[in-house]
Amino acid sequence: MLKKWKKKRRKLLAIALATGVIVSGVNLDLTFASNANGNKTVVTQQSVSQQQVPQLVDAASINAVIAAMTVTEKAAMVVGANSVALDPVNGEIIGTQSRKVPGAAGQTQAIPRLGIPSIVLADGPMGVRINPTREGTDQTFYATKFPSPNVLASSWDTELVNKVGVATAAELKAYGIDLLLAPGMNIQSYLLNGRNYEYFSEDPLVTGTMTAEFVNGVEDNGVGTTIKHFAAYNQRTNNNGNMIISQRALREIYLKGFEIAVKESQPWAIMDSYNMINGTYATENKDLLTSVLREDWGFKGFAMTDWEFGARDIVKQIEAGTNLLMPGSLNQVNRIIAAVNDGSLDEKYLDRNIKEILNVVIETPTFKGHVATNTPDLEAGAKIARQAAADGMVLLKNEEKALPIAESVSVSLFGTPTIETMTGGRGSALVYAPYQIGIPEGLKDAGLTINEELLSKYETYVDELRASDEYKQTPGNFFVSTFPTLPEMDVTQDAIAAAESTDVGIIVLSSEFGTYGSDRSKEDFYLSESKLKMIDDVSKAYRAQGKPVIAVLNVEGPLETASWEDKVDGIVLSWQPGQELGNAVADILTGKVNPSGKLPQTFPVDYEELPYADRYPGENNEFTYEEDIYVGYRYNSTFGLKPAYEFGYGLSYTTFDYDNVRVNRNGSFKDKITVFATVENSGDITGREAVQVYVSAPDGKLEKPELELKAFTKTKELKPGKKENLKFELDLKELASFDEEKSAWVVEKGTYEVLVGASSEDIRGTTSFKVDKDILVETVNDVLEPQVEINTLSKFN
Ligand code: BGC
Repeated sequence: MLKKWKKKRRKLLAIALATGVIVSGVNLDLTFASNANGNKTVVTQQSVSQQQVPQLVDAASINAVIAAMTVTEKAAMVVGANSVALDPVNGEIIGTQSRKVPGAAGQTQAIPRLGIPSIVLADGPMGVRINPTREGTDQTFYATKFPSPNVLASSWDTELVNKVGVATAAELKAYGIDLLLAPGMNIQSYLLNGRNYEYFSEDPLVTGTMTAEFVNGVEDNGVGTTIKHFAAYNQRTNNNGNMIISQRALREIYLKGFEIAVKESQPWAIMDSYNMINGTYATENKDLLTSVLREDWGFKGFAMTDWEFGARDIVKQIEAGTNLLMPGSLNQVNRIIAAVNDGSLDEKYLDRNIKEILNVVIETPTFKGHVATNTPDLEAGAKIARQAAADGMVLLKNEEKALPIAESVSVSLFGTPTIETMTGGRGSALVYAPYQIGIPEGLKDAGLTINEELLSKYETYVDELRASDEYKQTPGNFFVSTFPTLPEMDVTQDAIAAAESTDVGIIVLSSEFGTYGSDRSKEDFYLSESKLKMIDDVSKAYRAQGKPVIAVLNVEGPLETASWEDKVDGIVLSWQPGQELGNAVADILTGKVNPSGKLPQTFPVDYEELPYADRYPGENNEFTYEEDIYVGYRYNSTFGLKPAYEFGYGLSYTTFDYDNVRVNRNGSFKDKITVFATVENSGDITGREAVQVYVSAPDGKLEKPELELKAFTKTKELKPGKKENLKFELDLKELASFDEEKSAWVVEKGTYEVLVGASSEDIRGTTSFKVDKDILVETVNDVLEPQVEINTLSKFN
């Protein structure tokens, strides 16, 4: 019966295809045929009994559903229904779906006759990105703007990251969204990458672990995530460029985080990056999407393209294992149908890809009949956002216990970012939050007295500049973060007056950068002349009064600090941590929260001394990753480059002692090693400590970085004098390096130093263990080989 029906439907479709295929905006459960005069007649499903049409009900029904699909339906199923129509008037919205959730980045095709609903996909890395308003209603649709991944990673707190995932899931569900297009998890290997803040860390273990925690937090609540951008998407300049990378650097650095995330959290989806890897676009890359992702790692979800609007070879994409082409256009559907018809695309790949999509669809809230309430608990979100923002802030400097400051003190705020504070996110990472707390507001709410006269002077200064020709094209709007910062006001005189009348000077600094489509420039790493002068003026004035100056770094990535840091007594890296920024800054400055964040990315002294400074972002749409595995602190520790603030660094208002660092098995090794350490709060304020375990592996056939992070944890809240015994398990895979010749992970024989520390430079205890003979841990597919020779950095050259 089914066969007969299929035959009939095929015939009808063949006619439809011959006469113009699908009509934009028309439901796919209607089939068009033409009569001899060319007039279209609609053949509805009423002519075929519903009973005979298989319905998507569960995993067991998927094969029959796919077998019942027409080629047109199959093509439409692997192409997103474009909910962000490029052209709202003539835009190609395929299928009949309206934009189910306005402002959500995309949705899939529904095929109602087979019981397949359209699922909704929404960004992003700082919370749910949807339009805050909708036609025909006064209701607002705000979402919590959580801290970005780099801020979350700075907390070194996996439980917290999980909690942010749980809170995000609640908002996704409230708005009827099935899949979050986040978290971003590329490696922050290049300082100027304009999207680094969407990612967690320069280290793959931190990246993979944090991603897995976030994904589990979301997905344990029945909503999906999309880890992105797979892979080696480390710049905006050559967005579609060819990234040339050794197999070892890929496996150990650029793919490693994804591997951890897939194995530990099995995300529902993954997003292919725009770029090529060793000559093949990620999205057309079978080695990447099938050999590595599915065969080596066991990924069970589906892969979608980034929002590339049909720019790639569709047949290659589908064969490679890209399940869903986003955001989707009618043209893509037609190209697929044509490819099947002319034999260049085997339908079996469509079937496979659809099955992998449907496996996820049946898990979604939409499929399970969940109805959007559109009333997320924004108060609950705000509470978590505030905690996460404060826990992600990093105390970089605190001379003479300049911090915390008492709530009874008076402060003067300097710097235009005081008015135009950046809470983070642009482009696909934008979130329309119900409110955003600036620094003055946060400090006032905490009870501090603010120098209002200076504040209003800054307000006027900023307003006037934003009204001027030079700056008016840029919004100067607190809610929009794509604008260059303003030149600073001359405060020579104001600083003197302020230092006389207030107890503490606070300088808010941000870097110049802020556009979505580009990378930062080298200049963005350095503070402008007017900012440096402001620091100087404020510093002199307050020091003349014997009063402290604190800098708050309202930045999304590292900036130059070495040239001016001795002019201030305290530095708080607030980052751009979402809507609760001002409250969280107040929590840290007043000591309501004892800072416990540490850097997930190195702050270099000077951009020019970085190993890629003269090469990044490459030429002719191509960039070679010559520094290879020596990324971030792996480079610094191996080649002896002193950073301004090292990876893993961060101060607290208390101090911690480390003791009892040792390994089990009397220093010998079989398949696992357990590292022990005891951490004690040796100061007088309750606090938490992020504890890091590094390994220095012996050079064998493979050279090794001086240090590699192999485990980390965060202590619970320790009261003064309290201790916590910590235990870390390192298994073979974690200790292994990638041997390209064998295409295998190997642990080479020799002595392994274990270094337990408060940062990558502040090592508090060491121990070691021996591996007697080489161990082959895992052989993987020998793929992704560069097509050209790479002049890789080596410590032996
Ligand atoms: C970005 C993705 C994002 C997508 C949908 C793309 O331009 O690269 O990260 O998820 O748009 O908004």
